[in-house]
Amino acid sequence: MKLQMMYSFLKTDIDLIEKELEKAVASNSTLIEQASFSLLKAGGKRIRPVFVLLGAKFGDYRIERVKNVAVALELIHMASLVHDDVIDDSKLRRGKPTVKAEWDNRIAMYTGDYILASALEYITKVEDLTAHQILADTLVEVCTGEIEQIKDKYHFGQNLRCYLRRIKRKTALLIAVSCQLGAIAAGADEQVHKQLFRFGYNVGMSYQIIDDILDFTGTEKELGKPAGEDLRQGNITLPVLFAMQDTAIKNELQHVHEHMPKTELDRVIGLIKSSGAIEQSYAISQRYLSKALKALEGLPDSRIKKTLAELAKYMGKRKF
Ligand code: IPE
Ligand code: IPE
Ligand code: MG
Ligand code: MG
Ligand code: MG
Repeated sequence: MKLQMMYSFLKTDIDLIEKELEKAVASNSTLIEQASFSLLKAGGKRIRPVFVLLGAKFGDYRIERVKNVAVALELIHMASLVHDDVIDDSKLRRGKPTVKAEWDNRIAMYTGDYILASALEYITKVEDLTAHQILADTLVEVCTGEIEQIKDKYHFGQNLRCYLRRIKRKTALLIAVSCQLGAIAAGADEQVHKQLFRFGYNVGMSYQIIDDILDFTGTEKELGKPAGEDLRQGNITLPVLFAMQDTAIKNELQHVHEHMPKTELDRVIGLIKSSGAIEQSYAISQRYLSKALKALEGLPDSRIKKTLAELAKYMGKRKF
């Protein structure tokens, strides 16, 4: 089943959010507008707004209210991608040149900031101090996660805890909060939104682990972004951590650097792929997925709960 089919019953509302996103990135500056618009139109799975809407279905669902949360979350995600591509020096995103590649790092910096500011405008339309606090805290964590990743580059001595803390900050929390804020904006019980947070957190952890695996196993065509770049950039992800349990591979890894010839880098990637590290990483990702499904158990039975479970399982198997 295709991703969009799983939540086809939300189509009218998703279309509305899409229109709102277009409005959100409109700007008096043609340059900023072009840069944000090109990212928006390049595609993207929009999983965060979908989680917001599904979370809101556990309360008093009013699209006019919840829409603002959904738009804000997708904008924050977009802004973080624009900045992430600067940090990761990425040329492609969603199959199209990144803002930094099409324009430059300076333009990307302010395009990201502009999109982020626009997200803040949307969230202030939700008159709920708790929602504002949660979002502000999450943004602090996302930035910390990305900065830590820079700091930890090429540190082959780092441990699993370090990796897990980083992906929690840079990815899992935003997905957790998407589920939670939808429910908060719809006035759902605290017990419900806490449970949704737990679900989203575990989905998010599994999601980033898969993203990190795909960087080794996927192709540029499938991913819409270059594969194999994490290792070149010295980003120590889960497959690398597992592969390093083999001392011979660990020794090889110490020699990886940004300007390593492609054939050499491909050889190291080959070693990682044949070490069993990919399978071990999948197993951890599956463990988070099971925890996510378990978090759903406490929620009232409904079509929404079923959809959340289907989405989580689908994302665990994703190839893009
Ligand atoms: C990419 O997120 C960055 C990660 C957190 C792994 P998505 O996989 O949700 O990207 P789009 O929005 O679908 O392009
Ligand atoms: C996720 O990390 C980025 C953010 C949460 C901002 P990645 O750097 O792995 O994302 P991709 O692979 O570029 O999409
Ligand atoms: Mg990154
Ligand atoms: Mg990146
Ligand atoms: Mg990645």
